Amino acid sequence: LFAPGADFLKGVVAMEGLPADDRVEVCFAGRSNVGKSSLINALTGRRGLARASNTPGRTQEINYFTLGETHYLVDLPGYGFANAPVAVVERWQRLLKRYLSGRAGLRRAFVLIDARHGVKKVDEEILTLLDRSAVTFQAVLTKADKVKARDLDRVLDQVRGALGPHPAAFPEIVLTSSETGDGIDVLRGIIATLP
Ligand code: GTP
Ligand code: MG
Repeated sequence: LFAPGADFLKGVVAMEGLPADDRVEVCFAGRSNVGKSSLINALTGRRGLARASNTPGRTQEINYFTLGETHYLVDLPGYGFANAPVAVVERWQRLLKRYLSGRAGLRRAFVLIDARHGVKKVDEEILTLLDRSAVTFQAVLTKADKVKARDLDRVLDQVRGALGPHPAAFPEIVLTSSETGDGIDVLRGIIATLP
């Protein structure tokens, strides 16, 4: 699936701008700075692909990437950044709700969690929204290279505990590092074999 390569398609700010709902789609959600764009670059093997659209002031965009002829990878705007105006946050939440409930092709949401920090309160909101939208989601721990092996079990336990109450949660947690490439092939395999 990943061999033909990936390309930036478009940045979307409103439902009307979404591309045709005719491909298998996966999205990447997570707090600002958790490593969404870096993960998309690592998955596609194209350094700078996701960043290319990641210009300041465009952070509210849903960025679409085509993967081969059959898939979309979707980079969602980061949430939880400290100084965002209330109006911006509300606008983004409305768009996100409509996006999550309106895409037939959306097979799975990957919720990225910093492996150093585990699931935070701001993450809980999105997990609940995914439950309500009946979108299966899977936790992906990022920046694994920054965590000592002996601290990892504690974080994994915390994440498992946080996922427990969520019916839309997929039980397997993926541990990744965009820096070292750890877990990237595992995630590629998951995307390539989605039902
Ligand atoms: P927003 O677009 O603002 O929501 O952020 P993002 O989630 O797309 O994060 P981005 O990929 O831009 O990464 C944020 C910072 O974390 C950058 O400085 C990356 O180099 C760094 N980073 C991302 N992934 C990793 C990783 O696996 N390991 C390490 N050490 N650093 C990482
Ligand atoms: Mg980004």
